[in-house]
Amino acid sequence: MNKIALSGIKPTGIPHLGNYLGMIRPALDLAKDYRAFYFIADAHALNQLHDAEELDRLIFEVAATLLALGLNPENVTFFRQSDIPEIFELAVILAAATPKGLLNRAHAYKAAVETNLAAGRDADAGINMGLFTYPILMAADILLFGSHAVPVGEDQRQHVEIAQDIAQAFNRAYGDVLTVPEAVIGEAIADIPGTDGRKMSKSYGNIIPIFAPPEELRRHIMGIVTDSRPPEQPKDPGQDTLFRLYRFFASPAETETMRAQYQSGGIGYGEVKQGLFEVLERTFGEARTRYEKYVVDRPFLEGILRYGAVKARAVGAPMLENVRKAVGIRSY
Ligand code: ADP
Ligand code: TRP
Repeated sequence: MNKIALSGIKPTGIPHLGNYLGMIRPALDLAKDYRAFYFIADAHALNQLHDAEELDRLIFEVAATLLALGLNPENVTFFRQSDIPEIFELAVILAAATPKGLLNRAHAYKAAVETNLAAGRDADAGINMGLFTYPILMAADILLFGSHAVPVGEDQRQHVEIAQDIAQAFNRAYGDVLTVPEAVIGEAIADIPGTDGRKMSKSYGNIIPIFAPPEELRRHIMGIVTDSRPPEQPKDPGQDTLFRLYRFFASPAETETMRAQYQSGGIGYGEVKQGLFEVLERTFGEARTRYEKYVVDRPFLEGILRYGAVKARAVGAPMLENVRKAVGIRSY
């Protein structure tokens, strides 16, 4: 039987090119060789997003995005985290096997503490328990389905390592019950730059949405920060945000032509921006038409997510039964 790949995407913002290259595309590729479980991590989103209407809207936008990009719900078990009560029960059981020190060392929590201390505040000011226990919920997502491979961006590596640690601690106590997962992180793709050159992230406000309509897409591209060197001056393509984005979507031949033009001088940033616009339109134009059709069709999306939930629970429920039995909780 095929090995299992699982990944989640938080509906906390409109999906952008960083999400696409770092997670969505590798995950869809992996689905060709694995039995894939992909889901919308709406319970994780609650830690960041405290607006019910916005969360509701984003869940459907993310679902429509994945379907438009080619996720086939017959091949992939595609669901919404909150439809799977087994995940939450497993999270409670796993918490009892999780050393607190493991979570103290988690990057997201540590960063929040450091920000507080630097600002002279109490270490835990404004930090909710959902943020602190985030890696436990994520371990429950991963371990409930016996996942082998977890395709994610580099920033999620530590979370997968924590899931490994939790699985191992659980197995030491109770025997070989849980599968220890591995992160799958594309080598070529570390952090995709945003319009200001920093990592593309909705928290930096520097994103390029995957499915922005042409005029909006053009505006985002025009906003990419460049230096003020004139066209004739030779430039190092590796240092330039525009080129770094361009090469992900251009053909190898187009990339080499562009690289040569950078190195010899003779191409201005305006022209590169136009080139980037064209390769993005070529890559996403058709999918955007599908996206626009799906995103307004709530009954269609809801039907797909519920169909996925039934398939997911058929796998997750027996796993939870094993875990219950292992720890000494009766069958339900
Ligand atoms: P954001 O930083 O915009 O909040 P998320 O944290 O929701 O994005 O990331 C969702 C997925 O996309 C994760 O697997 C993450 O590693 C990947 N990802 C996000 N931004 C980037 C980026 N700039 N480069 C590569 N991968 C990314
Ligand atoms: N934490 C991931 C992110 O921020 C989303 C996520 C939740 C996830 N549960 C998961 C990813 C399980 C992989 C596996 O991007």
